[in-house]
Amino acid sequence: MQERNSRKYSQIGVAILFLLLVACGGHQTEGQTQPETANGQEAALQGKSASALSERTAGMRAGQVVYDQYCATCHQTNGDGVPNLNPPLAKTDYVTGDKERLIRIVLNGSNEGLEVNGMVYSNAMPAHSFLSDEDVANVLSYIRNSFGNHADTVSVDEVRQVRATLE
Ligand code: HEC
Repeated sequence: MQERNSRKYSQIGVAILFLLLVACGGHQTEGQTQPETANGQEAALQGKSASALSERTAGMRAGQVVYDQYCATCHQTNGDGVPNLNPPLAKTDYVTGDKERLIRIVLNGSNEGLEVNGMVYSNAMPAHSFLSDEDVANVLSYIRNSFGNHADTVSVDEVRQVRATLE
């Protein structure tokens, strides 16, 4: 009788353990699936630097969309350009250097026959002043941090200021 009782208790113990495991397991999965939604991800990011980082990532992604639509035909998706026609955007001083000059090239276009990394390009770049300040800021932040480039981003304010000197 005693032995039977203790077996019964241990069975109850196993059942309780099992229930606990299921309960905890269920809870864990809930916690893991939550950040999959965009809102959950935003909520999971706490502190200023994290939200600044996600803003930067969003800007880069938006910049890539602008790039693919308006720049890639000439400068190519990988930023290598086309020899003798369209200069590369990888590792050029125009891209990673002075932001004002860079913003001006995109807004005004260029027909100077720029020398880029030792080669002169005969095509003309059309003006892209039809792009919004935000699109220009995003696309320039994108090219300054793609194709092996690492430079600080361009802000909407910086684009607005340069545009004001041109109009
Ligand atoms: C129709 C082709 C064409 C398009 C579209 C175009 N570019 Fe250009 N781009 C050129 C050419 C050609 C030059 C060189 C101009 C010159 O020699 O005066 C140039 C020069 C540049 C330069 C300076 C030189 C260098 O390679 O670093 C940058 C930066 C640049 N383009 C960025 C862009 C961005 C960003 C876009 C899209 C918003 C864009 N371009 C769209 C053809 C194009």
